[in-house]
Formats: sequence, C-alpha cells, structure tokens
Amino acid sequence: TYAWRSGAYVTRRRLLVTGAFAAMGAVTGSAGTAVAQPRGMTLRARPAKVSLGRRTVSTWTYNGVVPGPSIEATAGETVRVPLINALPANTTVHWHGIRIDPRMDGAPGFSQEPTRPGERFDYVFRVPDPGTYFYHSHVGTQPDRGLYGPLIVADPREPLSYDQEITVLLDDWLDGISGTPDDALRRLNASTQHDDTLRSAVLGGVAAEMHHPLYLINGRAPDAPATFHSAPGRRVRFRVINAAADTPFRVALGGHELTVTHTDGFPCKPVTVDSILIGMGERYDFLVRLGSGAFPLVALAEGKRARAFAVVRTSRRAATPAKDAKVAQLTGRMLNYEDLRAPRADQLPRPSRVVTVRLGMRPSGNEWTLNDRLAADPMRVQVDRGETIRIVLDNESPMWHPMHLHGHTFQVNVNGLRGPRKDTVNIKPRERLEIDVLADNPGEWMFHCHNLYHQEQGMMGALGYG
Ligand code: C2O
Ligand code: CU
Repeated sequence: TYAWRSGAYVTRRRLLVTGAFAAMGAVTGSAGTAVAQPRGMTLRARPAKVSLGRRTVSTWTYNGVVPGPSIEATAGETVRVPLINALPANTTVHWHGIRIDPRMDGAPGFSQEPTRPGERFDYVFRVPDPGTYFYHSHVGTQPDRGLYGPLIVADPREPLSYDQEITVLLDDWLDGISGTPDDALRRLNASTQHDDTLRSAVLGGVAAEMHHPLYLINGRAPDAPATFHSAPGRRVRFRVINAAADTPFRVALGGHELTVTHTDGFPCKPVTVDSILIGMGERYDFLVRLGSGAFPLVALAEGKRARAFAVVRTSRRAATPAKDAKVAQLTGRMLNYEDLRAPRADQLPRPSRVVTVRLGMRPSGNEWTLNDRLAADPMRVQVDRGETIRIVLDNESPMWHPMHLHGHTFQVNVNGLRGPRKDTVNIKPRERLEIDVLADNPGEWMFHCHNLYHQEQGMMGALGYG
C-alpha cells in the first residue's frame, strides 16, 4: 500500500501488469547506443463509420476510431504527432492541459492557423509534466462527434504503486442530428424559422434530453458496454477524462471506494470517496483495490437522468446491476474541491493581485459572456511574466461552466487553504471559485468554458502576457 506521509508519497514501485508502458523509453540504435526517439503517432482526421455499441454512426474521427488512439509519453520527452487533415473542413489538435509551446497549442485565432483540408501539420512539443491529459480538435464543435483521444504522460519516477491502468473517456453523443455538429450549427445559423428543437439539441443543456443523447464510456453506449478485465486484489489506477461537450458526470464503481490521487494530471493529497463529480475537460485519477466479481462503472449524466456504463470484470460472476451501484456509491460521499489539497511541492506562490471574471448569460439564453463580452470582442486578462494572479470566477448564470485555461495548471483557492492544481474548474450556478495562476508560460492563451456550446455561443476569452 502507499500512504501520504509528511508531504511525500511512500514509494514502492512495481512493474505495470498491462503492457501500456512496457515499450516506453529509449530505443537502441544500430550502434548499440540509446537513441532518444520522439514519441507519438500520426493522427489522420477523417470521416468514418463507427460503432457506438449497437448503433453505427457516420462521424469524424482520428484514425477511424472513437475515442482516438491513446498517445503515450514520459514527462520530459518530446512528442511528435503529424496531423493529416482528411476532413472536408479546417481543423487543429489541442493538447488539453499541457504546459505547451503556444505555437503547438492548436488554438485557432490565437497562436495557430487551422490546418486546411488535404494539408498536414506536424505537432512537435515537449511534455514537461506527467499526468492524465487528452487531445481534441479546437475548431467549432468538432470534438462533439469523436475528434478526441487520451494523452497519457508517465512519470519516470512514478511514486504511486499499482498493478494496472485503466483509462476511461466519458462522452455524450447527441442523437437525432445527421452529419457532424458543424453541419448542425450551420443549419441552425442558416435557419430562418425558429427551429427550437434543433436549436435546443445543438445548444445542449435541458433539451439534449429530448434527443436521447447516448452517454458513452470509451465510445460504447450502455447497450454494448466496454468491459475492462482485471484480477481480484489488483490495485488499479483509473484515469478518468470527461470529453463530453455538454455533460458533467458523477462517476462511481459498484462496491468500491475510490482513492483520488490526481486532479487534471497533478498529484493531490489522497482522499477516499464513493464518487467523483467531473466536469467537461476535467480529469481525475483514482486508485481502487478490486474485489472479485463484475462491477459496474457508472457515470451518471448529472441532471439528465441517464447514464454511461462499463463493466470492470475480475471473475466470471454476473455483473452487479447498475442500479445497485447507484444506491451504494452514487448517493454516497462525493468528491468536492474542498476535499482536495495540493502537496507542498506543487503549490504556487501566493497571488499579488486579484481580478474578477463574471460568467454570464445574455437574456436571449443563447449567448454566454465573460465580463459581459462575447468571443468576437473577447474579455482579456492581462498578466506580467512571473506574477501570480488570483482570478475570481463569479458565475452569475443558472448553468454550470467548466472554465479551462490553456498552457497553465493553476491552483484552486479553497477557503484560504491550498487547494488542488487544475486546468479546468467547474463553477456551479450562482457560485464563485478562486484560482491562482502563475504566469510562467508567455503567450496569448485561450480561457474559456469547456461546454462546447457555450464556447461557440460566446464564452471564449483570453489570458495574455505583455
Ligand atoms: Cu480542451 Cu480550449 O480546450
Ligand atoms: Cu459554460
């Protein structure tokens, strides 16, 4: 077992049972010397038919699969990912959560021109910090139909002890709209009559229910769920990524407590809960010692009375019904930001000044603002290199807003205590949250709501240097 003791994890390394990282590290060159090979793979953004369980859809993908392939590297390495755009539209890849060179951030209009159909762009960047990240297109609502995948950065001095890793990507899949989300947005903007059904479906939220969206774990709907195989007694590290456009999830594993160890890639002091609440763009890692049986991994679509579901199987026994997991875990102790603390080594300097960013809604209900401004004339937080600023995120609206800052991992201020390191924080209706940002990666950075529909309806700002 591991324990949190005087500010450090007790280290007991063990080889991973899964081969996920077995092939990592330097390769041996012809002269017999170790040659550092850039890690990564080619991503081909292209239309494809994919199976979401019993249903097959035409959509946009990386390499023909949803989620896209897992990209794995070790902290400190350089990753090389050529993007080939075989879509009929411009696209980019954004490396969500990575403290990256701004020219590689995939943020159109900020630091990079989008890649045009038929063209190629080589993403080459260093991954300075270990952790659970993901990648996705940053053009319009393209990620909502499959243009996303996991990016896992291993720690060369991994302090946690575990036997196996399971990466879990959560998604919501709007049904009832043919073609891509971009088609839907275009139809919406072009429609002369007031098409409420379409508008609601495109804007998500309450009305998404009318379209019976599918809720997916690793691209599978509950009618044909993903199964993760393991063995009784194994200690498993789950890496949970919420890649949904419009859905926060409450996640639990039937019959098990979850020991949360990482928030958006960064370590936290371990805390044991029954379930986690995870907003769009957020990631949590937790450890579980598996029992014997088949256990439902349930992701309840918060506020939508629907769920995504997968099975963690360690024996041939029949799976516990998902509803039992709900009773046992989903109603139990849920993780809050208040429960989380950054270890001393990961704390940021105290802020020297405070700015407020108000998250608002225009009366039309279809426009979302940051300090009353829309993306066309964006709000901009100006920082000086090296300073730490506190940003008060004040949600004046009746919706949830997972706010994401590119290029940085900030620290949540929890009642004056040193809260978790994160790059995305979910601010609930009428609540406020304080984050401290150390300006240590100069550039012009996106700062936006990770509800893709809010982002596309105005909720996009900037944080910039100089
Ligand atoms: Cu996950 Cu601006 O991005
Ligand atoms: Cu929002």
